[in-house]
Amino acid sequence: MKVKIKNQTLFVNNRRNFLSKIKKNGLAIINTNDEFPRSGDQIYNFKQNPDFFYLTGLDQEQCLLLIFPDCPNPLYKEVLFLRQTNEYIAVWEGYKFTKEEAKAISGIQNIYWIEEFWNIFSSIVHYATNIYINTNENDRYAPVVPYKDLRFIDEIKSKYPLHRYERAALIFRELRPIKSDIEVFYTQKACDITNDAFRRVLNFVKPGVQEYEIEAEIIHEFIKKQATGHAYSPIIASGKNACILHYNDNKEQCRDGDVILFDFGAEYANYNADMSRSIPVNGRFTKRQKDVYNSVLHVMKESVKMLKAGAIWNDYHEEVGKIMTSELIKLGLLDKHDVEKQNPDVPAYKKYFMHGTSHHLGLDVHDFASRYEPFAVGNILTCEPGIYIMNESLGIRLENDILITENGNVDLMAKIPIEADEIENLMNS
Ligand code: GLY
Ligand code: MN
Ligand code: MN
Repeated sequence: MKVKIKNQTLFVNNRRNFLSKIKKNGLAIINTNDEFPRSGDQIYNFKQNPDFFYLTGLDQEQCLLLIFPDCPNPLYKEVLFLRQTNEYIAVWEGYKFTKEEAKAISGIQNIYWIEEFWNIFSSIVHYATNIYINTNENDRYAPVVPYKDLRFIDEIKSKYPLHRYERAALIFRELRPIKSDIEVFYTQKACDITNDAFRRVLNFVKPGVQEYEIEAEIIHEFIKKQATGHAYSPIIASGKNACILHYNDNKEQCRDGDVILFDFGAEYANYNADMSRSIPVNGRFTKRQKDVYNSVLHVMKESVKMLKAGAIWNDYHEEVGKIMTSELIKLGLLDKHDVEKQNPDVPAYKKYFMHGTSHHLGLDVHDFASRYEPFAVGNILTCEPGIYIMNESLGIRLENDILITENGNVDLMAKIPIEADEIENLMNS
């Protein structure tokens, strides 16, 4: 993370909300993420566990948070265990937090070195009934590696087999989808930096340019603006590549007459932007490209109107499907009679629009939330319809990030050009 976080209140409030959901005599242990191996002696750049960050604001490995609101020893109601640094680590790996700094960022008053954890823990755990541990319960993730929390569960259960164990994830799933003003501020920053990068790209693209050259322009702008980097692997997909939903080789030449589909977003202070745009390589859409573009834009505008508190996920997606179906008929891609005969479980529009329209956005790009809860004030959701026509080598997706408020929704990407004429004008100015 390239910014210094100075919003202790965010983390103090988050912990207050979290501990209010812990059962009587319950304690919670939240671990930091592993440092994941890359190759040989290399590791990936450290990425903090979003739940640990949510409660502490600390972006450092090998730490642990203990929350035990009913702890009989007041010293251990809220404790941060920090990786102890030394001269060797300072020279080889760089600076690590002192106790004072960790206190200033997180607002946690009691801080010990991580080596002291089991000794302190064994002196208080017998007064707890329930132990909350964190796991990754994202619906899109099926555990394949024994990550830190899973190993920790084995260790603690072997030491304290008779306690009751609870899923901290259930608490995070309730809290994390409701964004506070500070979280919205960071997400807006991520969106603004994404806007800067997109405008830079509009100036840069011309026939013959390579997809990877565009990728280089984007990362230049991101880093210059203090983003950590990409929120996810960027997609720079020209021509037929746009019909491969997760294309991110970004290694082909952009040809005159093709459209390029971009899906990229900045990560700023661990909050993410998620944007898609589609632009003509030569600065002018053909009539057909513009028709498809405007269909996608129409579906997007209609869908955004439905993103409001109380809306139900499945109903919303069904409605979007109907609007998309009527656009696909207008474009001559679907036949009215085929639609009448379609199997409602596999609607015809899925042939050209095969992914979901929205997902929650936050500390994770596909943020942690229940898809069975109605949308609520404070949610940030993407809106990302697309039409992919392989036999025309044309794929168009548009994606903005939308905040739901009490008075309707706010488009956090409202400043990013999206009208076809606006895109053309900027590319030709
Ligand atoms: N960039 C990932 C997504 O749009 O869901
Ligand atoms: Mn996206
Ligand atoms: Mn998305």
